[in-house]
Amino acid sequence: MTMKTKENAQVRYEELAAIDKQHFMHPTSSFKQQQEKGPGFIFTEGKGIYLKDIRGKQVIDGLSSLWNVNIGHGREELGQAAMDQMKKLAFSSTFSTNSHEPAIMLAEKVAQMTPGDLTMTFFTSGGSDANDTAFKTSRQYWRLKGKTDKKKIISRNKSYHGVSVGASSATGLPGFRNFPSLAPDFYYVDSSIQALKEMIAREGAETIAAFISEPIQGSGGVNLPPENYFKEVREICNQNEILFIADEVITGFGRTGTNFGIENFGAVPDMMVIAKGISSGYAPIGGMVISEKIKNELIELTDGVYMHGYTYSGHPMCCAVALKNLEIIEEENMIENVRNMGAELQNGFKWLAQRHEEIGNIRGIGLLGAVEILKDKETNTRFADPVSVKVVEEALNHGLLARSIVYEGQDTLAFAPPFCINKEEVETIISIIDKSLTEVKKKGLK
Ligand SMILES: Cc1ncc(COP(=O)(O)O)c(C=O)c1O
Repeated sequence: MTMKTKENAQVRYEELAAIDKQHFMHPTSSFKQQQEKGPGFIFTEGKGIYLKDIRGKQVIDGLSSLWNVNIGHGREELGQAAMDQMKKLAFSSTFSTNSHEPAIMLAEKVAQMTPGDLTMTFFTSGGSDANDTAFKTSRQYWRLKGKTDKKKIISRNKSYHGVSVGASSATGLPGFRNFPSLAPDFYYVDSSIQALKEMIAREGAETIAAFISEPIQGSGGVNLPPENYFKEVREICNQNEILFIADEVITGFGRTGTNFGIENFGAVPDMMVIAKGISSGYAPIGGMVISEKIKNELIELTDGVYMHGYTYSGHPMCCAVALKNLEIIEEENMIENVRNMGAELQNGFKWLAQRHEEIGNIRGIGLLGAVEILKDKETNTRFADPVSVKVVEEALNHGLLARSIVYEGQDTLAFAPPFCINKEEVETIISIIDKSLTEVKKKGLK
């Protein structure tokens, strides 16, 4: 940037920042921080793993924005797919059995990619509404089968399922439920088979409609399940007539090195919730996928209309973009790259742990990984003042947009870079974390 363009960019930044403060209510943000400091970045463009802001600062997008820009930024083919579809048919309804080619072809594509007999997709605009759809549908399913008491939904502590009334009610991170009057009949369980069994015994299987879980918890800290957890969950759900819903919003479409996260753990759910990676964030779309068995039972048992549908269920442009995105992931063997670069990321974590005694609890699968910062590894104690927040701040100075997770007393750094990342770029991320942590340590840890 020349001096003059830099000055102009600063002027425009300030103009936009003033308007932002006055008119833009941000999602999951601090009102006070916005008013005191203005917007964080005002991003203007993206390419591959990089984002650039209005003042010309370039950063690595270490979490693929919100774990969603999986193919990376700046893929013009997706813009072309959106334009082609909009020129032909920008919108038509899919209510009352009307249909269009992009939704039909995307539903088929999803069915080809999912494990087991998960074959039919209901489309939404994102993950929260897809979870609400799964909750309503699972409760309705039992009602149609005459089991009207089966209403409770069990989710895991530290889970994140979104922010609609139903999805926040299912979220096992209490901070997200800190709103009055969320939905009834949601229960939270610790991540052990014993705890699940105890809850079912306590509440009564005849009152439980579904158990929902992310295959790997994302926002809760990139937490892998205990050994054999989902195999046992599958059995318990079968034994107790409880539907098993896998929330694949983060883990779906390649993030863990397989099409879906649950495939790593040898179980097939009855329903799957999808969003984010289906379109890599280029268009807002999500969905609920149901098994052939549930589909057939719903067909048989439902008299009249399934009274549930969003205006944008199966939006033609979003479906066309998602189809193109999935085609790119396949044609460019991106899931293989996720596996290879995931291994590099884990090597990087190990290297960091050798250099910094505070780094522990290294974990991850594919391009979904985390490290924790610990005061004492043996007792698993954290520093009183979370270190990861300071590392993230410092990393920005070195060109990395990273994510710290401090819910529930954690001090975690989470990583989920775009699938197009290469070895040098993984190494850059690791070396920035190394430098940033070194600098934070120099200032003293409390
Ligand atoms: C596992 C999981 N489920 C559901 C959601 C909610 O999706 P959305 O924000 O698209 O409503 C998210 C979002 O981060 C998520 O991570």
